[in-house]
Amino acid sequence: MPRKTLEDKKKVSLLPPPRSRKMSHLFLLCLLLSFLNFAASQDDVVMQALKSSLNLTSDVDWSNPNPCKWVTVQCDGSSRVTGIQLKQKGIRGTLPPNLQNLSELVILELFSNRISGPIPDLSGLTNLQTLNLHDNLFISTPENLFSGMNSLEEVYLDDNPFPSWEIPETVKEATSLKNLSLVNCNLTGSIPDFFSSETLPSLASLNLSRNNLHGGLPSSFANSSLQQLYLNGQKLNGSISVLQNMTSLVEVDLQGNAFSGPIPDLSGLQSLRLFNVRENQLTGVVPPSFTGLKSLTVVNLTNNLFQGPTPLFQKSVSVDAVAKTNSFCLDTAGVPCDPRVDTLLSIAESFNYPMKLAMSWKGNDPCDSWLGITCSPSNITVINLARQKLIGTISPSFAKLTSLETIFLYSNQLTGRIPTELTTLPKLRILDVSNNYIFDCDVPKFSASVKVLTSGGGRCGKSFGDIVKIILPVLVGALCLVGLGVCLYAKKRRRRPAKVQSPNTNMVIHPHHSGDSDAIELAVAAESSYSHSGSTNSDIHVVESGNLVIPIQVLRSVTNNFSEENILGTGGFGVVYKGELNDGTKIAVKRMESSASVVSDKGLAEFKSEIDVLTKMRHRHLVALLGYCLDGNERLLVYEYMPRGTLSQHLFHWKEEERKPLDWTRRLAIALDVARGVEYLHTFAHQSFIHRDLKPSNILLGDDMRAKVADFGLVRLAPEGNYSIETRVAGTFGYLAPEYAVTGRVTTMVDIYSLGVILMELVTGRKALDVTQREDSVHLVTWFRRVAASKVRDENAFKNAIDPNIKLDEETLASVEKVWELAGYCCAREPYQRPDMSHIVNVLSSLTVQWKPTDVEPDDLNGIDYDFPLPQAVKNWQASEGLSQTGDDSGSSSSGLWK
Ligand SMILES: *[C@@H]1O[C@H](CO)[C@@H](O)[C@H](O)[C@H]1NC(C)=O
Ligand SMILES: *[C@@H]1O[C@H](CO)[C@@H](O)[C@H](O)[C@H]1NC(C)=O
Ligand SMILES: *[C@@H]1O[C@H](CO)[C@@H](O)[C@H](O)[C@H]1NC(C)=O
Ligand SMILES: *[C@@H]1O[C@H](CO)[C@@H](O)[C@H](O)[C@H]1NC(C)=O
Ligand SMILES: *[C@@H]1O[C@H](CO)[C@@H](O)[C@H](O)[C@H]1NC(C)=O
Ligand SMILES: *[C@@H]1O[C@H](CO)[C@@H](O)[C@H](O)[C@H]1NC(C)=O
Ligand SMILES: *[C@@H]1O[C@H](CO)[C@@H](O)[C@H](O)[C@H]1NC(C)=O
Ligand SMILES: *[C@@H]1O[C@H](CO)[C@@H](O)[C@H](O)[C@H]1NC(C)=O
Repeated sequence: MPRKTLEDKKKVSLLPPPRSRKMSHLFLLCLLLSFLNFAASQDDVVMQALKSSLNLTSDVDWSNPNPCKWVTVQCDGSSRVTGIQLKQKGIRGTLPPNLQNLSELVILELFSNRISGPIPDLSGLTNLQTLNLHDNLFISTPENLFSGMNSLEEVYLDDNPFPSWEIPETVKEATSLKNLSLVNCNLTGSIPDFFSSETLPSLASLNLSRNNLHGGLPSSFANSSLQQLYLNGQKLNGSISVLQNMTSLVEVDLQGNAFSGPIPDLSGLQSLRLFNVRENQLTGVVPPSFTGLKSLTVVNLTNNLFQGPTPLFQKSVSVDAVAKTNSFCLDTAGVPCDPRVDTLLSIAESFNYPMKLAMSWKGNDPCDSWLGITCSPSNITVINLARQKLIGTISPSFAKLTSLETIFLYSNQLTGRIPTELTTLPKLRILDVSNNYIFDCDVPKFSASVKVLTSGGGRCGKSFGDIVKIILPVLVGALCLVGLGVCLYAKKRRRRPAKVQSPNTNMVIHPHHSGDSDAIELAVAAESSYSHSGSTNSDIHVVESGNLVIPIQVLRSVTNNFSEENILGTGGFGVVYKGELNDGTKIAVKRMESSASVVSDKGLAEFKSEIDVLTKMRHRHLVALLGYCLDGNERLLVYEYMPRGTLSQHLFHWKEEERKPLDWTRRLAIALDVARGVEYLHTFAHQSFIHRDLKPSNILLGDDMRAKVADFGLVRLAPEGNYSIETRVAGTFGYLAPEYAVTGRVTTMVDIYSLGVILMELVTGRKALDVTQREDSVHLVTWFRRVAASKVRDENAFKNAIDPNIKLDEETLASVEKVWELAGYCCAREPYQRPDMSHIVNVLSSLTVQWKPTDVEPDDLNGIDYDFPLPQAVKNWQASEGLSQTGDDSGSSSSGLWK
């Protein structure tokens, strides 16, 4: 059509009126215009496509050949389309896919029609400011919704029959967004955590009403400047405490969700006019900081579990019928409650107003069958809130109930301390707060007639008390996860000293069981004639610390619900996740595969007693096991996080990871650290604990590049009197001592052999098994022996075997040579030919001293962390296995040996 116009105009210009200059000017103008029209034709194509894909109603006149002349279409000076507004016409049809070619489009308003089909990709429309498509029959949104549309200010896609979808990340790219309205859009998933001023600085109105969103309010709301927040009619839950920081709010509508907990302090929300939280499960006293807000005009609190006095607002505020539909003490607004009610509510406040209490504690008489309250006859004598899943602290307000004789708060998840005020209760006889995370250490002094029970939960002092202190804020944050299951509490088990193993231990290999090398299982400490390692150092290095049960909610919360991004690696036990506590402290959480037979065929009690032993093994060069969780089929172990990864990363993958190769001094120091860690294992509490799977991917490095041995979970305490336990072969090809691989015979010499292989790796920079080598050199130990044998004749063969990344001078060479010899000695074919770990420590420390005297701390001589400073230790934690995702040496686990 436009082309035809052009032709017509040309014909006219061929017949110029001969006399009029004025006229010829007009012709020129016409020509110019026709060229402009031609230039606009790029939009014309799209507009014609739009016209034909829509079933326009008769009142919409789009008949002019020039789209800029169409009703409700606007163009700019160069005939580019800037606006299309076709609202409330009942128009049917679809939108053409090339709508995004209208690159000058500023406003697209097609709301309240019957347009169907997909909303096309609009991502090229960098000038678009308003997109209003609500109330149509669109069946999908483009995947890259709003991508690159950085002028977009207002978006309304409400009331379209989309299939269920989630708010996409690309919304973040619409950085000018002011109003976003996706009401009744079939949205699922949770509210993404990017609605903050940093990401969307102009966002003032967010309307997500009537969708299927679930989860909590994202914390980034705290940092937003939202004025209108409509989230009514979904499945949202959790606390609404983030509202406290949303000081720009004018209207907030959370009606018809499952929010819980109290109304936070809203005194900072000086512009708040509308507050609708009806039909939720909110609890607690409606705070005066809220009722006093001058800006309020409409408040809806119906159908919640609010407690305390019925709130009294200013006359100017219209409030819905709050009384009777909540748990207020009295129906008349502003009338105070019975003082006992106030006191009990302040006790409930320190538990964050649990729903269970809010459902029962209603009315003005606590003696009228309130949960956990016993009266005599109208004085409260007993408060029994044991096993109520309470989270929080013990309120000093208990002290106001002077008639109290009994307080039971055991088996909850309470933290903090017993308030000193409670010692003033004149009639108190028994206070049981056991099985919580209450600090045992500074229980205030009660009179002798009061029985105070505190045992069983958190511990005080320098070890586990501190981790509790760190973890518990997270625990409180994990409130919303309550219901996902509560971990079992480990009964504290007393460990009896195990007997030394008989030398004639009869060991059998069960090929079908050998795949279970990931089990925490027994390394029979066969103290045979040749394995009296470490008998010189036989102090009992048991750190009496007890074990820490960490609720699964905490572990879910800190690992972002075991999200893939948090995976550190996959090891023998299962997957290791990185977790971050509230204060930024990192931990490593090992989630044992529930299919692993260790879980099914091992009794809970046995598992717990093994863990109990493992948590007691504390040494500067062992990765500490700090806690665990048993929940249903879940078995989780919590370890310290080691920030520098595994030795294998540093030794074999330093190039990929853009690190420097380890220098010789470092290698020596690491070897010594490992030897010391294993020496401790071999001499732990008069017994020999055998690691059985020493390898570079089980050696983790801290910030100071000092090494710790991980995954000594393969070690377990021998059950007393059971000497004929079969031994399954654990370990990894390339590191397995020959006698162990062949007979399954386990002695400390198995670890010596593996350490020998590691020493060879440190010297040569080659992996224990290196399939890239010539066939006769794949196995490091075999190749090493060959080179060692020719060394006498050919000094160059030895020098060529040394890792070229080690800078060799005369001194280094001498030191390397010593370690080379030691390595060969450790990997002797016969176990009795191998040295003790104490000998290895001596050799390595003499070399280390020679090389770097400052590396040896005085207490390193002994190496036991008697007062393991936990908070600090927690800071340097690391997954104890499987960090080498490249799968260098972990892929060849012996489990394949027998299959
Ligand atoms: C468009 O209108 C024509 C006739 O008016 C009709 O045949 C066709 O089905 C309509 N298309 C849609 C998508 O409504
Ligand atoms: C839309 O724009 C693209 C590139 O800018 C071009 O290749 C395409 O031909 C245009 N389509 C129409 C229908 O104008
Ligand atoms: C929401 O999406 C689901 C699945 O895509 C669909 O079955 C359902 O009909 C949609 N609901 C509405 C109201 O469109
Ligand atoms: C857009 O947001 C502003 C600011 O919150 C608000 O005043 C206005 O009513 C919103 N517009 C619509 C159509 O919701
Ligand atoms: C949000 O959507 C609801 C419909 O559920 C409507 O009543 C309310 O006015 C909307 N709010 C804004 C600010 O547009
Ligand atoms: C919210 O406000 C409180 C004090 O009003 C402050 O302590 C807290 O850090 C704020 N939180 C965020 C996420 O801004
Ligand atoms: C909220 O309360 C006001 C005042 O009683 C009432 O007019 C309004 O209908 C209520 N809104 C809802 C959604 O119930
Ligand atoms: C209830 O407590 C009050 C004050 O402590 C006391 O005077 C009264 O005797 C108590 N009554 C009973 C039945 O214990």
